[in-house]
Amino acid sequence: MSRVADKVVLVTGAGSGIGRATAALLVAEGATVIVSDINRAGGLETVQQIGGKARFEDHDTAQEADWKRIIDGILEREGKLNGLVNNAGIAGPFPATFETETVEQWQKILSINVQGVFLGCKYSVPALRQSGGGSIVNTSSLAALVGTPDLSAYGASKGAVRQFTKTVAMDCARKGYKVRCNSVHPGIIMTPMGEGILPDEKKRDRMRKHIPLGEFGAPEDIAYGILYLISDESRFVTGTELVIDGGMNAI
Ligand SMILES: NC(=O)c1ccc[n+]([C@@H]2O[C@H](COP(=O)([O-])OP(=O)(O)OC[C@H]3O[C@@H](n4cnc5c(N)ncnc54)[C@H](O)[C@@H]3O)[C@@H](O)[C@H]2O)c1
Repeated sequence: MSRVADKVVLVTGAGSGIGRATAALLVAEGATVIVSDINRAGGLETVQQIGGKARFEDHDTAQEADWKRIIDGILEREGKLNGLVNNAGIAGPFPATFETETVEQWQKILSINVQGVFLGCKYSVPALRQSGGGSIVNTSSLAALVGTPDLSAYGASKGAVRQFTKTVAMDCARKGYKVRCNSVHPGIIMTPMGEGILPDEKKRDRMRKHIPLGEFGAPEDIAYGILYLISDESRFVTGTELVIDGGMNAI
């Protein structure tokens, strides 16, 4: 299969979890993937695991200068950019209610989860346009759609990503940019982040009872949704939100 044949796609936070699975699936479906992460060891491991058409970039998504360097480098080396997966994110300490959250922690979470996504859209859109159009996928969360009393800054950050995605989608559409922008909303996925929030089997068993399909998601479950949104199969889809959560949001 080659659902994204010859596309050049940047995946942030691809040194682990959902980003790694997404990078692997995109390469398997014919894309060239730039794996970026603040964690060099994880990013290099991803490239080594998937082999083929992937390379690594050191990237702190909260830093404007990193975005300029990486997007310019892609246009220079690969000659085009067809897709961006704004996946990098942090959850912060758990639990963190709005009463215990510190300003420093709040700002750190928003600088990566929201500012990182803003910068990604800002710097990728000119490159996507120059390449004939493209697709941006922003990784939000089920946390954008429900209250998250134990992850207060995280929930706020993902709500911002959901809304900002629609803003970018509508702005690009009205300007005729041929750039689509959509968000994905994972439920509880077993990655280092998910495992950190649910460290022991007792807590996991309790949480499973709230998932209609009865199990946590795997990184690949999200990667398949992102693959669809990056591919031309979704050419009529923009400003939407794809919830992949085992049914939790439907309860
Ligand atoms: N795992 C879940 O249950 C879940 C649920 C909903 C949404 N999400 C979202 O999915 C995305 C991926 O999460 P995951 O579960 O794979 O987590 P993960 O911790 O396994 O991977 C996140 C990756 O992002 C990288 N990263 C962190 N800060 C960065 C920065 N400033 N610049 C660049 N890279 C940075 C980390 O080094 C890591 O490799 C996140 O945006 C997360 O909020 C995850």
